[in-house]
Amino acid sequence: MNMLILGGNGFIGSHLVDRLLAEGHQVRVFDKYEEHFRKPVTGVDYCIGDFGNRGMLSEALAGIDVVFHLISTTLPKTSNDDPVFDVQSNVIEAICLMEQCVANKIRKVVFISSGGAIYGNPKTLPISENSSTEPECSYGITKLTIEKYLALFNHLHGLDYVVLRPSNPYGNRQNPEGIQGAVSVFLGRAAQGKSIEIWGDGRIVRDYIFIDDLVDGIYKAASLDPFSRVFNLGSGVGHSLNDIVEVIRKVTGRDIRVSYKAKRSFDVPSIYLDICRAKQELSWMPSVSLETGIEKTWQFVKKLYR
Ligand SMILES: NC(=O)c1ccc[n+]([C@@H]2O[C@H](COP(=O)([O-])OP(=O)(O)OC[C@H]3O[C@@H](n4cnc5c(N)ncnc54)[C@H](O)[C@@H]3O)[C@@H](O)[C@H]2O)c1
Repeated sequence: MNMLILGGNGFIGSHLVDRLLAEGHQVRVFDKYEEHFRKPVTGVDYCIGDFGNRGMLSEALAGIDVVFHLISTTLPKTSNDDPVFDVQSNVIEAICLMEQCVANKIRKVVFISSGGAIYGNPKTLPISENSSTEPECSYGITKLTIEKYLALFNHLHGLDYVVLRPSNPYGNRQNPEGIQGAVSVFLGRAAQGKSIEIWGDGRIVRDYIFIDDLVDGIYKAASLDPFSRVFNLGSGVGHSLNDIVEVIRKVTGRDIRVSYKAKRSFDVPSIYLDICRAKQELSWMPSVSLETGIEKTWQFVKKLYR
């Protein structure tokens, strides 16, 4: 099939490119920038442009069967700085995308939402897809709004879609110099012999999923015709930041110093996802242990700082 990945040159998108090619699909990528960590991949049709350029987007949609929407112009942390920009660049452009998908008779839209920002501070754990959604940042609100518009476009125009809510993915090609992705950032600090900075006492719990497992879930949700429209994709297990540091010490064999800073008000204390629905309906199961995943990521990160 002909697949279009919006944001295909980013961390998750680049792994999805590999998976779709390996499955024998034709792949087109629409992204503002080229890939950061590798040269263009043979066989991929690249369109370099801004999501807001509707003419370019329309050209990129020609002949496409399935659209994977991975573009986000904001992060949970930055989105509250300018909510108007967040809504304009993410929600409005996503609605324009949906209109173009209807006009182009796209078979399915796969939207990468968020398992970490949609629910807010969970009342029960693990948190299922049916839990209340009380986002505490603009990013979570815009992700949720796009989910709602997809449901509306399905209702009004029959546009088929599936929403995936990933937890905290990590793995190679996640930028260790970035402002999200604790595992990669911590490994980057370890590779440079620098101390790791943690906001709070390190007991904040998150759900870390290795990139190959996440992409496997995305692929299965796109290829199958599941009963549900919304799926959590995580490991289903919570680990504290202190746990992560311990695994990094073990994997790298380095003496890692941790510098604890004042805790941040917007970090919810604990969140990990209930993944029963994806297991049942997609026959999906994360298979990479935290230690193995961190070991694989370390092999990538340490080469960057040689
Ligand atoms: N990485 C995570 O922790 C995480 C967790 C949950 C959900 N998500 C979601 O998954 C998706 C992919 O995340 P990622 O970690 O691969 O991010 P990323 O930043 O590595 O990739 C996003 C890609 O989108 C492109 N992009 C951004 N703005 C654009 C624009 N205006 N026009 C064209 N391209 C643009 C970027 O150039 C980048 O290549 C995002 O929607 C993100 O919100 C990520």
